[in-house]
Amino acid sequence: MEITGKTAVITGSAGGLGKAMAEHFAKLGANIVLSDISEEKLAEALKDIVSLGAKAIAVKTDVSKEADAEALMQKAVSTFGSLDIAVLNAGILRDGLLVKVDKQTGKVASKLSLANWQSVIDVNLTGVFLTGREAAAQMIDSGSKGVIIPISSVAMHGNPGQTNYSAAKAGVAAMTKLWARELSRFGIRVAGIAPGFIATEMVMKDMNPEALKKWEAQIPIGRLGKPEEIAETAAFIARNELVDGVVLEISGGVKI
Ligand SMILES: NC(=O)c1ccc[n+]([C@@H]2O[C@H](COP(=O)([O-])OP(=O)(O)OC[C@H]3O[C@@H](n4cnc5c(N)ncnc54)[C@H](O)[C@@H]3O)[C@@H](O)[C@H]2O)c1
Repeated sequence: MEITGKTAVITGSAGGLGKAMAEHFAKLGANIVLSDISEEKLAEALKDIVSLGAKAIAVKTDVSKEADAEALMQKAVSTFGSLDIAVLNAGILRDGLLVKVDKQTGKVASKLSLANWQSVIDVNLTGVFLTGREAAAQMIDSGSKGVIIPISSVAMHGNPGQTNYSAAKAGVAAMTKLWARELSRFGIRVAGIAPGFIATEMVMKDMNPEALKKWEAQIPIGRLGKPEEIAETAAFIARNELVDGVVLEISGGVKI
């Protein structure tokens, strides 16, 4: 796909990987639909994207809400006339062990709460389902042979301390592969990205220098990834029509 002049919706794009992808697509000449749950951060991000010379709008969206997901994808088509690239990126973390045992008593001290399970499933799995479904519906109805790019994670293989997150990201990887098969008859491709450890706000927020060193030691290339490296991968998927029905692990060699 030639990206110039196409319309790209990126969820969770007020910061982190989503914003980096929006900037990258903007520089390649796409019209940008930013969307995020944080209205304040969204306004800042919109200024930055417009300053790159792109046509852009921002739509406040909670991806876990059906009406929001529908309105977002409709707005892209009503504003720019088409929807060509949908990056399903919004995500949250609520890490915790399944059960935590008190070292002294040997008894269970706490459990991963249902609330923390559910909030991650709502945003990271249901949110991808809803926004992916609406992107597909709008692409089909507007006759666009577009591309859907769900963002999974290497945690899809099962990362200790991330029951909720790993389950959601494995679900995202499964949906990516099956949607590619369901949607190919409409000329729509679906290919995902499973990033490793990338230096965004989500990852760096509570990181101390020692923890950072530990993380880096787990990465064969010896450093965290940069958001731009994930953004380049999203553009590669959009451009290259041979990429379909796969989830690309972009991790510097991390194995989970
Ligand atoms: N950073 C990493 O190392 C890494 C690794 C693997 C996968 N990922 C995935 O990449 C995606 C982006 O991660 P990031 O590191 O940029 O995180 P981030 O926290 O920097 O950005 C996530 C964005 O999503 C938004 N968001 C949260 N809940 C939302 C909701 N309900 N509706 C709409 N927007 C919502 C947030 O406001 C935020 O702007 C996530 O899906 C994450 O799981 C990140």
